[in-house]
Amino acid sequence: MVGIGYDIHRLVEKRPLYLGGVKIDYPLGLLGHSDGDVLLHAICDALLGAANLGDIGLHFPPEDKKYKDIPSLKLLKKVGEFLRNSGFFVKNIDAVVIAEKPKILPYIKEMKKNIAHTLSMHPEDISIKGKTNEGIGEIGENKAIAAFAVCEIGRIYDSLER
Ligand code: CDP
Ligand code: ZN
Repeated sequence: MVGIGYDIHRLVEKRPLYLGGVKIDYPLGLLGHSDGDVLLHAICDALLGAANLGDIGLHFPPEDKKYKDIPSLKLLKKVGEFLRNSGFFVKNIDAVVIAEKPKILPYIKEMKKNIAHTLSMHPEDISIKGKTNEGIGEIGENKAIAAFAVCEIGRIYDSLER
């Protein structure tokens, strides 16, 4: 089964920038109830979508105070547990971060390590790419960062049968 996830957050002052669970040294950060990690949110939604388990807002309502400023790696860990409890394992993830700035290339290795560790996957099964919006629209003006993610999951009993 495959899943798709998308997310977008505003880039604002006085917020730390977290992408893929990595704190990136940058003067702006992503606005959001949690730490605003748009990449991890897109991945959560791709995983939940593949398993037909709803979406991130359903499992972690933004109005719930216990999720305020929560590290999104904790949300991703819970999503991984939901999938496992429903009999699924994650085969691979592919994601793209659309950000005019900063360049994410230097941080991708650490992002993959964080995600792999959190989901008990191999980093080689996780792909993350950066893309600018070529200066077009709000993302191009560096007012927001968006992310898309897709994943493939399998049923655990299928893997045991092989
Ligand atoms: O050349 P093209 O239009 O396909 O890509 P781009 O948006 O101009 O970005 C060039 C390269 O910079 C990408 O292939 C990524 O490797 C890198 N990049 C990045 O690391 N972080 C970003 N926020 C945007 C781009
Ligand atoms: Zn989000």
